[in-house]
Parts: sequence; C-alpha cells; structure tokens
Amino acid sequence: MIDIHIPMKIAYIKWLMTTTAPGFQYERPPGPRFKFPYLFSLQFLKAPLTVLNDLTTKYGDISYFKFGRQGIYFVNHPDYIQSVLMINQSKFIKNPGLRLTKRIIGNGLLTSEGEYHKQQRSLIQPAFDYSHIAMYADIITSCGEELCEKWRQTVVPKETETTVDVHHEMTKLTVSIISNVLFGSNISSNTTAGIIHDVTILVGYFNHLRLPFIGNIIEKLPLASSRKFHASRRRLDSLIFAIIQEAKQNLMREDKMSHVFDSLPFNDFEAKDKNSPRNLLSTLLLLDTRRRMIGSDKTSTAMTMQQLRDEIMTLFLAGHETTANALTWTLYLISQNHQVEAKIIEEIKQVLENKRRPTVEDIPKFQYLRNVFTESLRLYPPAWAIGREATDTVVMGGYTIPPGSVVIMSQYITHRDPRYFTEPNKFIPERWSPEMKSNLHKFAFFPFGGGSRVCMGEPLAWIEGILLLVTLLGNWKIELVPEHPVVLSPLITLRPKYGMKMIIKRR
Ligand code: HEM
Repeated sequence: MIDIHIPMKIAYIKWLMTTTAPGFQYERPPGPRFKFPYLFSLQFLKAPLTVLNDLTTKYGDISYFKFGRQGIYFVNHPDYIQSVLMINQSKFIKNPGLRLTKRIIGNGLLTSEGEYHKQQRSLIQPAFDYSHIAMYADIITSCGEELCEKWRQTVVPKETETTVDVHHEMTKLTVSIISNVLFGSNISSNTTAGIIHDVTILVGYFNHLRLPFIGNIIEKLPLASSRKFHASRRRLDSLIFAIIQEAKQNLMREDKMSHVFDSLPFNDFEAKDKNSPRNLLSTLLLLDTRRRMIGSDKTSTAMTMQQLRDEIMTLFLAGHETTANALTWTLYLISQNHQVEAKIIEEIKQVLENKRRPTVEDIPKFQYLRNVFTESLRLYPPAWAIGREATDTVVMGGYTIPPGSVVIMSQYITHRDPRYFTEPNKFIPERWSPEMKSNLHKFAFFPFGGGSRVCMGEPLAWIEGILLLVTLLGNWKIELVPEHPVVLSPLITLRPKYGMKMIIKRR
C-alpha cells in the first residue's frame, strides 16, 4: 500500500519553496484572528454549529481559522463543496478527526484511502445497490413491527399511551436491523442485546476520544470508561471474528458458491437468485471469492479476517447511528406539524388499503413521505459536517489552499442557506417539487456527501426511513412530551442532547 502521506509531504515542501520565493504574496481568506487560537478551538468544540454559522455570516463563503495549530478552511458555497468532494477529490484525504475512528473501525471503507479504498469500494458496492438491498425490506419491516409489539406490551392495560425516549428506541431498532442485515436472523436476541450494549459504549466513548489535545490522553488513563470501552471492543471483535468464521464455513459446507457462480451473469450480481445469500456478510464473502475466481483481479488474495472485521465494523457503525438520528428528527418534526402528519396518514391509508403490510414495491408510492424524510435530512442532517485534508495545493474562491490544511463543509449550514431554500428554517416538505429539485445545485443539499466517497448505504437508509416511518406512524400517534428540551448535540452525528422523550398513543 502506498503511503498517502509521502505525496502530501512532497507537495508541502514544494509549497514551502513557493512561499519563500522572492515577491511571493500569499493571502488567506478572512476569518477570526486570535492571539490565543486555543480559546477559539474551545469555543468551536462547545458550539460548533454557532461558530460555523457566525463564520459564514461575518466572512462569507470561504473563511479561515486556526484550531490549535491546524489551519482550517470553512467553505460554504456549493461550487466549492463540489470542488472538494468531486472535481479535486484526488487532492484530498479524510480529515485527521475522522482518521481517529480507525481505533474502532480499523481500515474499513469509511477510513481507508487511495487504491485500497477504490478496490474495496468496487468489491462491496454491488451488495449495496438498490436492487440487492431491497431484499432486506422484509427484515426491516419485521423489526419495526416487533418494536410496535413491544410498545403495545409496555402500554399499561386499559391505557392507550406511554412515554418513551424515541432516540433510544430508534438506536436500538437500527442496531437490530443492521445486525440482522449483516449477519442474518439466526443471531439470538441475547446476542443482539449484547451487541447493542457494546456498540453504544464504543460510540459514546469515541465522542470523548475525538476531543483534540485530550483525546489521546483520555485513552491512556486507567478510567472506568476506558476499561469499559476496551472490554466492549474486545467482546465485539471476538463476536465478529466468530460470526465471520462461521459464515465462511457455512458457505464452504453448503457449497453455495458453485451454485451461485453457475447461475450468475458474468458481470452482474443478481440479487433475486434463489441461491444468493440472505445477509451482507455472506454476500461480501461471495463477492470476494468471485473477484478472485471469475473477475479481472485473479491475482489478489482473499480478504483477511482483519480486513473483513474492519469492513463489518464500519458498516455496523456507519449503518445505524445516522439512520437512528434521521428517524428521530423526522418523528420530532412530524410531531410539531399536524398538517404534515395528517397528510402522511392519508397517504399510508391510500397506499396500504386494508392496513396491509408495506413492501418494497410500495416504497415509490410514498411520494409525500419521501419529501418529509428529505426535508428532515435538510434541517437535521445526521452527518452535519464533512472534513478533508488537502494533500496538494488547491485553488478555491481566488485563494490557494496549501497541502496539510483541513477543509470543512457543513450540511447543517449549507442546507439552511436562504440562497438555496426559501424560509430555510421552516419544515416544508412540499418544497421538494420536481422543478425545485431540478433547479437545485447538486451540492446545496448533500446529506449523503458526494463524489467517490459518497455514502454507500444511502439505498438502505431510504428503505429503512420509509418502511419504518410507515410502520410506526401507521400504528402510533407520536407527540413530544411538553417542556422536553430539544437541544442539538453535534457529536459524530447530529443527536438530540437530552434524547427525545415522546408520548406514543395507539391509533
Ligand atoms: C440517513 C442515514 C445516513 C446518512 C445521513 C449517511 C451519511 C454519510 C455521509 C455524509 C458519508 C460521507 C462521509 C465523507 O465523505 O467523509 C457517508 C459515508 C458512508 N456511509 Fe453513510 N449515511 C447514512 C446511512 C448509512 C448506512 C445505512 C450505511 C451502511 C449500512 C452507511 C455506510 C456508509 C459507508 C460505508 C460510507 C463510506 C463510503 C466510502 O468512503 O466509500 N451509511 N455516509
């Protein structure tokens, strides 16, 4: 594997030589200049969304500030965002903050770079195409129905309502869906409960680790939280290794591979084939074997247990928290807008005559609900910012960004920009008309990122979003507990700081 830092170092030396040449003038974009940049960093950590919003208001579409010793460019124009994520994507790598997640997810799709990332992405991508992901629709609806049943049992007899923390409930629901989708339904409910527990500890602990300056120290201190984190990681690792081992043996034992290869068109992974595996892990093993047997890459070796573990852990973590937050914010927004809620219920009634179960074929029929989910991703994008580190000089907005600089883009800020969205802070699902969508800059709305690193799980997120909202809202009326404080907490994802206490009433 090529060390991606070597070209960056060369580019940086070249840049230094340019800047020291006589007569060279280098201008930085406007931005706050502090004698003690660490104070600004602390301000940023405390309230990143407020700081980013102030930066755009005061300094416009491109600004510069220092985070400790790190120079950061904040860009807030769709053209600049497109430049970073697409046009000049080869001149950027993931930002140092995200690279920290390697401690948990290793070198999986989210964190790997260069040629290795390209190979892994093209290997795994077919498993995430809509046609393949659609076969998990039934698992998703079943998990939604199980939750409804659990809520029904929680409601005291004779009463029709109870209070739940919807954020907590959505997190458990999406962890259980991703573990079913990844490993199949033969994982016991006890094991799923253990996974939920350990994943929650990993995500919670990571939010401390990402704190600059002290993150590294925290990890080394013999704190109870560090011990819990290491124990959870060990447990999850050994569970994942055991599941991978078993899946490998099952595939070999059942000789499924030869069946599937016989029936597969050469370049197409046919999802509907009756022999195709019903979980993502087996699909991944199959694709890996197929790459070596019938693909162009006959020289490559099978993915090692560590590589498989890293990809699985990545899908696990990338695949549940974002979706849980998206569902939570959508339910919150609906609870605040009775007309929107009434329209959704009407649509559910029309599409699912006689209250039948929603299927994957119904998804395109929920046009209004789709707009509701889109509008929720605009106002509360679960991935609220994306960062990159420049590996080469890049010119943007008339400024030269040197290698080693970090560039950040924020979905939360751009999605609320009045230049692209009228009444930007209002929840108006009706705004997403076909004309509006065709006139909108591709990078004025980018909840799933863009370019070669665009979210691979987007099809799964949409199927989950629509089917779960239909299942939950069709059975329950969901209202915010009066006085419950709804406060944003922009950690790895955009969460509600105090959870989302809601009253659920049977419909
Ligand atoms: C509403 C739900 C989701 C949102 C808002 C979301 C958002 C994002 C964003 C913004 C990125 C790009 C990050 C960057 O460029 O640095 C990303 C990457 C990724 N997401 Fe998602 N995601 C969601 C659901 C999922 C699901 C369900 C999965 C899989 C099960 C998933 C798997 C991934 C993976 C593997 C990547 C890395 C892709 C690569 O770099 O090649 N995501 N996601």
